Amino acid sequence: MSKHKLIAGNWKMNGSLAGNDALVRAVVAGLGGARCTVALCVPAPYLAQLQLLRHGSALELGAQDVSAHAQGAYTGEVSAAMLKEFGARYAIVGHSERRQYHGETDQLVADKAKAALAQGITPIVCVGETLAEREGGRTEEVVKRQLAAVIHTLAHCAGEIVVAYEPVWAIGTGRTATPEQAQQVHAVLRAQLQAATGHAERVHILYGGSMNAANAASLLAQPDIDGGLIGGASLKAPDFLQIIQAAG
Ligand code: 13P
Repeated sequence: MSKHKLIAGNWKMNGSLAGNDALVRAVVAGLGGARCTVALCVPAPYLAQLQLLRHGSALELGAQDVSAHAQGAYTGEVSAAMLKEFGARYAIVGHSERRQYHGETDQLVADKAKAALAQGITPIVCVGETLAEREGGRTEEVVKRQLAAVIHTLAHCAGEIVVAYEPVWAIGTGRTATPEQAQQVHAVLRAQLQAATGHAERVHILYGGSMNAANAASLLAQPDIDGGLIGGASLKAPDFLQIIQAAG
């Protein structure tokens, strides 16, 4: 069974009202007959602006993080219900930048995924090894441990997530995993999801890490790569649109 691919941009902490306006208008104008699902995961304050800009188009919206808590005394956090009110269909959880700079643990990431799903938001769960872990032969062990926490916490809902394999050494470095390296890890993740859910073929497993207009087609041609999570290249409409085209 082949399913439509999912191409999600992760703007990270980039953007401005004026810049977003130009970028999103160009993306929407270029979506044309794209068959894949296209989403932009933007800083939370910009969701309101993007809700207006996407109006009437197929562009989906996402957040880059979500609180594990439903509401209450959690200064600075943004709940899944709030994201939902501003049109978010997706929320990235467990991005390596949050694991690294904000000390997010596997369990916290799992709790965030659960909080998102409770509001009908699809969590895009990021997993990935560091360079030291890859060189130490620990890639499979690391990504399986990260995904296992989410599977355990979500139980029967584990098949509702999107997974993004993002090798930390490939993020923002221009050093992409080869299609073979990525496919190998994607197959491991698919098998783990299959054992847990029985219908892993339905789950989108995205690749992220220096995906660009030049390398997207060969990555997306791999049997277990169902789309991409795009950082830098999602900030340039022509590059992002070329990746969307490569996804069909
Ligand atoms: P780059 O595409 O800039 O390497 O970023 C990837 C990423 O972290 C997407 O979440």
